[in-house]
Amino acid sequence: MATQATAREIAVVGVIGAGQMGSGIAQLAAAAGCGVLLLDSDTAALSRAVASISSSLRRLVAKGQLSQASCEHSIEQIKCVSSVQELRDADLVIEAIVESEDIKKKLFVELDKITKPSAILASNTSSISITRLASATNRPCQVIGMHFFNPPPIMKLIEIIRGADTSEEVFTKVKSFSERLGKTVICSQDYPGFIVNRILMPMINEAFWALYTGVATKEDIDTGMKLGTNHPMGPLQLADFIGLDVCLSVLRVLHNGLGDSKYSPCPLLVQYVDAGRLGKKRGQGVYSYGTRSSSIKP
Ligand code: 3HC
Repeated sequence: MATQATAREIAVVGVIGAGQMGSGIAQLAAAAGCGVLLLDSDTAALSRAVASISSSLRRLVAKGQLSQASCEHSIEQIKCVSSVQELRDADLVIEAIVESEDIKKKLFVELDKITKPSAILASNTSSISITRLASATNRPCQVIGMHFFNPPPIMKLIEIIRGADTSEEVFTKVKSFSERLGKTVICSQDYPGFIVNRILMPMINEAFWALYTGVATKEDIDTGMKLGTNHPMGPLQLADFIGLDVCLSVLRVLHNGLGDSKYSPCPLLVQYVDAGRLGKKRGQGVYSYGTRSSSIKP
């Protein structure tokens, strides 16, 4: 299928979801000189995102890595919006909303209706099939996965996922846009968990099994992997950082999609999520970040 997506440069980027990932992606696009439309229905989340982007850019100014003028310009590039209709001028839309296939598909149906025919629709999904998301639209050749890593301004990688119908032109355009954001690109076919989460999540799950079966304390498991394999964070600390709900949802996609019991989520991870211990964002996960207490053992 022919695409108009390469007809012009990506000048305006729509980012949907003003959480940690969405705000980091918005910051990167603005710093690369794009106009950014940051969409969230929660106005408080938009305010928090703008505050966090401003403070992140100002830290770069303080460290001498960005001029004051570029910092102010980047902040001015970001316009907060609250309805999908306001994304009609976007050349590229990147969604970073909740990891639910049904919710994402509904969003793609809406985006397909309101965005211009040449617009590329990208998902920052951690593991959901790009081919299935694309099937909700009438432009599957212009749907692609752009998987950023947390925190997006710091992590150097973008994993690009081609759906079954993603065109070569769209892939090339998104790859060069990702490089414009200063990232290294790897390319994955559309299989559950893509490349990084296919390998990372079984490691995190195994760390939960080690904790669940009493192999060691959480601190020793994390210290072992930090100092024994030079990871910046141990797997349990990293799971808290990513969000235990996100880890569980990726493991379920791996388990269902690949049909191998080795991906079956550890019951302790399931129990933490059931209890609302979702990690750092909620003040409690494997570790406590606030005052909330719980009787889940260990
Ligand atoms: N936004 C912007 N900058 C940030 C940041 C954020 N959220 N968090 C930290 N930074 C910056 C700090 O300003 C600091 O910059 P400087 O060195 O120039 O002063 C630098 O990052 C290091 O920060 P800190 O000194 O505060 O802390 P650390 O040295 O511990 O680094 C970390 C923090 C970068 C998060 C590091 O611990 C790390 O790399 N952890 C692993 C992260 C990781 O693996 N992410 C991927 C998760 S998987 C994923 O996202 C995929 C999904 O699908 C599940």
